[in-house]
Amino acid sequence: MSTVLQKIEAAVSYIKNLYKATPIVGIVLGSGLGSFTSEINIEQEIPYSEIPNFPVSTVEGHSGKLILGELGGKKVVAMAGRFHYYEGYSVEEVVFPIRVMKYLGIQTLLISNAAGGMQKGFKVGDLMIITDHISQLTINPLIGKNEAAFGARFPDMSEPYKKYLIAKVKNIAVEAAFELKQGVYIGVTGPTFETRAEYKMLATLGGDAVGMSTVQEVIAAVHMGLPVFAMSVITDLGIRDEENTITHEEVLQAAKDAEPKLTHIFKELVAQL
Ligand code: HPA
Repeated sequence: MSTVLQKIEAAVSYIKNLYKATPIVGIVLGSGLGSFTSEINIEQEIPYSEIPNFPVSTVEGHSGKLILGELGGKKVVAMAGRFHYYEGYSVEEVVFPIRVMKYLGIQTLLISNAAGGMQKGFKVGDLMIITDHISQLTINPLIGKNEAAFGARFPDMSEPYKKYLIAKVKNIAVEAAFELKQGVYIGVTGPTFETRAEYKMLATLGGDAVGMSTVQEVIAAVHMGLPVFAMSVITDLGIRDEENTITHEEVLQAAKDAEPKLTHIFKELVAQL
């Protein structure tokens, strides 16, 4: 068995020892979006630091634990805090928890993030369904020897965000009278926010939102055949007229303000899975 499979197996057996049920949905919570976990009927919490081979989260706004329990009548596992490449983790470490959740038994992955908006008409606080992504400006997590147990050497990426999940979310939004945006997410390494020229470049490349997470997680999930839905909270505007700056604090505050809507959508989506 390869070392990555052994590492996953050790993490999975540690978690299974503490939590016997099989979660069917995995949820990754982005910056400022962690209080979503209060919706979960928590049955087990495991700090990342206790799970064998798990990296440990360091960024403010990420509490760093795995939460297992029930949401919308389904067993779920949620990551409160994720791992970013800019923190110095290898790409293999960034996607490690996604692989662990797959081996725990999840059948669907829901991802949230905070992102900078670039599409005309976007406002701070908007929610954007990610319909597609551009990963070329960050590091692909599948570089290196392919692990055949996960998936193919050259995975198809024609539908990384499943249309049937997007359709469900659009219905949920109509029923709740929420306005949703949709668009392409560009993944970058960070940790700098973009210059004005870079935001313009990213918009020209076809991006509607930009962020420092998600695409590597999605690539690892798609590699393993895991259906993904992802949503960005637009926390700042890259293409803007004013001379304002962008701070991490503002990003966290904007995410907090938008959180109740995102929570409603994820909760309803889980109930429908
Ligand atoms: N750029 C990159 N990542 C981000 C941004 C941004 O403007 N906002 C939140 N995450």
